[in-house]
Amino acid sequence: TSCGILVTGGAGYIGSHTCKALAQTGYAPVVYDDLSNGHEEAVLWGPLVRGDIRDTARLTKAMADHDVFGVIHFAGLIEVGQSVHRPDLYWDCNVNGVAAVLEAMRSAEVGRLIFSSTAACYGTPPNDSPLSEDDSLNPINPYGDSKLAGERMIAAYCAAFGLTAVALRYFNASGVDAEGQVGEAHYPETHLIPLAIEAALDATQPLTVFGDDFPTDDGFCIRDYVHVTDLAQAHVLALEVELGASGFEAMNLGRGRGSSVMEVIDAVAKACGRRPAYSLGPRRAGDPPMLVAEPSRAMARLGWTPAFTDLQAIVDSAVAWRRHRRFGAPASLKSVA
Ligand code: UFG
Repeated sequence: TSCGILVTGGAGYIGSHTCKALAQTGYAPVVYDDLSNGHEEAVLWGPLVRGDIRDTARLTKAMADHDVFGVIHFAGLIEVGQSVHRPDLYWDCNVNGVAAVLEAMRSAEVGRLIFSSTAACYGTPPNDSPLSEDDSLNPINPYGDSKLAGERMIAAYCAAFGLTAVALRYFNASGVDAEGQVGEAHYPETHLIPLAIEAALDATQPLTVFGDDFPTDDGFCIRDYVHVTDLAQAHVLALEVELGASGFEAMNLGRGRGSSVMEVIDAVAKACGRRPAYSLGPRRAGDPPMLVAEPSRAMARLGWTPAFTDLQAIVDSAVAWRRHRRFGAPASLKSVA
């Protein structure tokens, strides 16, 4: 039987970690990526097909050529701030990308889709409780809107055309492969952990903390940081989970524990042996005070248990990568710097 899995965005951060987990489980990942943000150096466990995510014909051919039985769709744009200024890019890439993947799956008769979704689908939580999949979905930026639209398109295709799909709503993906084969290298980097590490290791790199007056215990924003290798494992498990009559299910992926920006800075200081300098800035538009997952559905349905249970181990893995990384900014973007 076929063990081929098409991984769109497989040269990116979560995609490359998932390719490693797939290969370790006996699947054969085939990466589909245009390398606009991904890294050729991160494609280590199977072939690379270069292509645009909106190119239905190319996707269909990649699925047929490699005899795939499932697709994991990561390819997309991920910056909340950018989505506010360039909603056109987000609706085009993220929504038309899903449409092309679904049409290609129909043509190539591929039955299972795992979709990269996000906590941004929930918008600002109504209270301090961890978010469950039954909470209301009210995105507050075009990024979240485009991801929720993708989920809804997928659910409709499942109902009408007999595909089956799992949407995995990540909270804060963080950390790096324990063996350092692949890692995190966004350009420009906007995520807290790599920026704080950079500031700790290089005093010329500025870190701004976005607000200290949130209604939380220490006044800083709280997020649920979940290790990328744990996220990768959830994708592998989701490929074979039995789905109910609707053929579609959404699941949160987080540790179910929140850490404040200052707790992250403390963990970075401990891992680096030096405190990152930072300045205090205003709140960033669209940052809810607290985003924490209720991950029990994924744990029960997938048999998923995050191996990284504490923030320090997650941050330690990111620091190890920063010290010995195999690649930095994508070649296509280095010249822009
Ligand atoms: N932060 C700073 N300074 C920075 C960067 C971040 O203080 O320079 C703070 C943010 O305000 C936030 C926390 O650090 O409180 C984490 O910020 P990140 O940018 O690392 O991550 P986000 O929580 O904003 O975003 C993540 C994903 C998005 C997703 C979002 C909600 O990167 O793709 O979670 O699910 F949309």
